[in-house]
Amino acid sequence: MQSKLEQLKSEALLALKSVKDKAQLEELENKFFGRKNGELTNIMKGLKDLADDARKVVGQVANDVKIEIENALQSKKKELSQADWQANLEKERLDTTQPVLPKNERGHFHPNTIVQNDLEELFTSMGFMTLDGSELESDYYNFSALNIPETHPARDMQDTFYVKGHGVDSNVPWVMRTQTSAMQVRAMQKYGAPVRAIVPGKCFRNEATDVRHEHTFYQLEGFVVGENITFAHLKGVLETVAKHLYGEETQVRLRPKYYPFVEPGVNGEVTCFLCKGEGCRVCKNTGWLEIFGAGMIHPNVLKEGNIDSTKNQGFAFGFGLTRLVMLKYGIEDIRHLESGDLKFLKQF
Ligand code: DAH
Repeated sequence: MQSKLEQLKSEALLALKSVKDKAQLEELENKFFGRKNGELTNIMKGLKDLADDARKVVGQVANDVKIEIENALQSKKKELSQADWQANLEKERLDTTQPVLPKNERGHFHPNTIVQNDLEELFTSMGFMTLDGSELESDYYNFSALNIPETHPARDMQDTFYVKGHGVDSNVPWVMRTQTSAMQVRAMQKYGAPVRAIVPGKCFRNEATDVRHEHTFYQLEGFVVGENITFAHLKGVLETVAKHLYGEETQVRLRPKYYPFVEPGVNGEVTCFLCKGEGCRVCKNTGWLEIFGAGMIHPNVLKEGNIDSTKNQGFAFGFGLTRLVMLKYGIEDIRHLESGDLKFLKQF
């Protein structure tokens, strides 16, 4: 029995040497120590049939063999898990030189949003609040409240999408707002005077589209109402915006222009940021870029907003936000902006 034990030991140690993975190790462990039919287990079980003396001697040897095999098994186990760990480490290694994979590509803002956010920040710093307004607007706020009555020819300046039968009173015509100015009277009615707000947002016109015209575009309206508000305040705000957009040396030129909701009304231009007023392709050789309309709010409009025009005055301005975006990025065709074309959008 003793020699059987010795043989078992050398067999076990030899077999252990060629074990390559955990499964093989488990198999081997089972072969010797398995509860039911393990070779060493069987010998241990047989000890009880030996005579006392022999049991003592053989028992001792059996125990030594058992311990030796167990130790060898343990160190093999350790060796294997170490190798496993190393293999995992190799697999999980972080290669900091590897370029970012496309699936991790991050989104980004649309150019409209970039310019809008920039201006919102500037106006917030001057104490303006930002209002949203709705894109579907009543004919009243979009036109009539702004001193453009139903029969007024100024309505022809804007090709409007009319929406039939909308809202509580389906007899009242509704429109896709043609201008963010539509929020002027809503804001006056809600906040009263003094009020200082900007309204960036989408506008719609029934345009025959081309490189300069699109049915959907963005404006940024602004207005201030309060006591002792003058044209000088308007000019100061517009100059601040122009310098913020195009640099300190930028000049503003205001020329009379008719808008029904302001009196006097002006058309606002800034010196061309590219040629600095010399004349170039961007400004069509005029040296000036037309980027906004503005003026002192007409008393009829203040009246619609429940503002006492004997005590308060106000100014208003409207930037073509889409135009600012096109100028900033040198976009030659307005239709790119609403196209959803990734080849275009990925450039920003
Ligand atoms: N809403 C005008 C437009 O769409 C732009 C405008 C002009 C806004 C003069 C104003 C303003 O507030 O005073 O053409």
